[in-house]
Amino acid sequence: MDLRQVRKEYENRGLREDDLVSDPIDQFKIWYSEIEEAGYSEPNAMVLSTVDKNASPSGRNVLLKEVREDGFVFFTNYESKKAKDIKTNKKVSLTFSWNELRRQVLVEGVAEKISENESDEYWAMRPYESKIGSLVSDQSSVISSREELDVAFETQELKWRGLEVPRPRHWGGYKVSPNFIEFWQGRQNRLHDRIGYELTFEGWIVNRLSP
Ligand SMILES: Cc1cc2nc3c(=O)[nH]c(=O)nc-3n(C[C@H](O)[C@H](O)[C@H](O)COP(=O)(O)O)c2cc1C
Repeated sequence: MDLRQVRKEYENRGLREDDLVSDPIDQFKIWYSEIEEAGYSEPNAMVLSTVDKNASPSGRNVLLKEVREDGFVFFTNYESKKAKDIKTNKKVSLTFSWNELRRQVLVEGVAEKISENESDEYWAMRPYESKIGSLVSDQSSVISSREELDVAFETQELKWRGLEVPRPRHWGGYKVSPNFIEFWQGRQNRLHDRIGYELTFEGWIVNRLSP
């Protein structure tokens, strides 16, 4: 396999400043509905990048679960590696790769835990098995075997069957409040459109970036 030969020409009408709305979160919602209409599977998957206490970066997919006026919400384990990273450095980025529409959205901002009530609210909506999974997973820690996990799941699944599973304290949401959002639209000849929204004291300012 020679990846150097893999090349795709991006053809579409591009991204003009006139097409954009002034608030990047509203713009995100517009693009999100378009990617949904395009039938893209799991468009809410996004790469969350964090840095640890030694400034080493890492990225992993998480699912966007809510878009608020002031940020992007995802849920995870508060004792996981990513959560430890966020505890020492709350600056994170989110990357959405929507290749079907030749689009990418990059969000840079600050992650903070949402309230207990808000996490409870989403926890209540989750399927029973997902709740049990979150209950038994000591996310990011080393485990001895797959079996250990399966046994823990079965035990808890039996214990809680027919009952309301309480949200464990180690599970909840974060909101990423953006200070920069870039909309990238693939164009021909690698002359892609990139429009960046930067948050300033005067509000959001919009700049076109070189591809
Ligand atoms: C498409 C996709 C969606 C995922 N969504 C989540 C999620 O919403 N929350 C989560 O904690 N992990 C999610 N994961 C698993 C994470 O990528 C990761 O393995 C896990 O959170 C542990 O990360 P950490 O050890 O860096 O903290 C998802 C993985 C994939 C591939």
